[in-house]
Amino acid sequence: MTAVGIDAIEIHAGKLKLDLAETFAPAKNESPEKYTKGLGLAASSFPDTYEDIVTMGANAAHRLMERRGLTPQDIGRIDVATESSFDNSKPVSTYIAGCLEQVYDGDFHHANKGERKFACISGTQSLDDAYNWIRAGRNRGRSALVVATDTALYARGDAGEATQGAGAVAMLISENPRLLELSTEQGYGSADETDFLKPNQQFPSVDGKRSVQVYLARMREALEDFESVAGDTHPDDFVLGPFHTPFPGMVRKAALLAYRHMIRDTEIEERLADEVGRQPRPEAFDSDEEYVEAMGDYTDLLKETSDYQNWYDATIAPTLEISREVGNWYTGSVHIARASGLKHALEEGMDLTGERLLVGSYGSGAQAEIHAETLQDEWEEEIAALTIDEQIASRRDITYEEYEHVHDVHNHDKQADDVEEFTTPDAEFVFEGWGRMGER
Ligand code: CAA
Repeated sequence: MTAVGIDAIEIHAGKLKLDLAETFAPAKNESPEKYTKGLGLAASSFPDTYEDIVTMGANAAHRLMERRGLTPQDIGRIDVATESSFDNSKPVSTYIAGCLEQVYDGDFHHANKGERKFACISGTQSLDDAYNWIRAGRNRGRSALVVATDTALYARGDAGEATQGAGAVAMLISENPRLLELSTEQGYGSADETDFLKPNQQFPSVDGKRSVQVYLARMREALEDFESVAGDTHPDDFVLGPFHTPFPGMVRKAALLAYRHMIRDTEIEERLADEVGRQPRPEAFDSDEEYVEAMGDYTDLLKETSDYQNWYDATIAPTLEISREVGNWYTGSVHIARASGLKHALEEGMDLTGERLLVGSYGSGAQAEIHAETLQDEWEEEIAALTIDEQIASRRDITYEEYEHVHDVHNHDKQADDVEEFTTPDAEFVFEGWGRMGER
């Protein structure tokens, strides 16, 4: 069977930086460690006031097309995944195609365009749609462009405010991909939940504590469902585990859950039960609460073992390096986790061709999906082309007052003549008011 998967990837980070320890924590009268250690975040990226989800997505897609020498004729499908959409009818992909048509001779009239919505998981769902389209033989030799683009904003004072972020990830899905092959096997955990909603409102209504529990519950179900088709997983099966990362502290919890699940009934579990002096699954308990408490105690001890820490340091920690600097990108989040892990592996000179990743995507509301990916021959060249480090380093550091201005602009609280810009556009698509995109 011909391999289908991600052929190329480009990332565009919002051009402003809000430092959580230096700027946000003092303004909120909080300890910096709550953010840097507790949530695991150093900074958030924000779009400048001339950027939005369309310009970030179009700039990422344009860079991808330029680098790979593509024209509109090479692309038969454009899907945008976002939970920051501003149009209930016209998909964001039409706006992005409109931007790209300003700089290419050809157009995208032949391309099927759409917008995918299921909170943060829709970036992965769009990959699945592209995969299925190619596998069904409907692509006529063309590739699909998937763009995951979001401006993750919370109301000022909301607990989620520290986890904001903004950026776009553009991915080209093709036959015989250079970067990675997507597996046919997938596992799902899906339930009607109300932990995070945006019913016709700009800022989400969030029950943050509940959202953490729902994330973990759906991920466990998805892992079990994945195993029902792909066979049991083992920690040694995967070189990296990129998970949806609203903040790295969330992934610390999810990774522990996944590890505890993957080692069950193995020699590792037996050995660690002896080491920590507690059985992983207590036989006798009087109530669900007692069971959960006993499991929690075991997990707390498991977390301290060198087996777990070595696995976490090699498989999970590298996937959090970009996220730590940019915050939550919603639909793009799991895709920057993958890029982060691979960038780390490249810097370490690791030979990963043929190795597998275990990818855990999640969207509130709520659904988790687990699938595997296999790295292809040219993964190193693809990852070496990423410019995310330079983008992170060149962001303009904003003061708390500037942050409030930017937050208000993106919440549409400002009139055009009140709006300040903090950086200078550099031959890129810019936002010029609703429905109008320009190039500067
Ligand atoms: N030093 C070190 N650690 C500290 C600390 C300090 N001074 N102060 C606090 N901490 C630790 C806490 O102990 C806690 O750690 P644990 O979770 O391990 O217990 C951590 O920092 C966070 O502290 P709080 O729980 O007090 O933080 P909070 O209640 O103010 O906010 C949150 C946490 C509710 C998750 C909030 O960030 C939030 O609402 N976020 C938005 C929702 C979200 O991202 N949910 C994640 C799952 S849903 C999802 O993934 C979809 C999505 O993208 C939104």
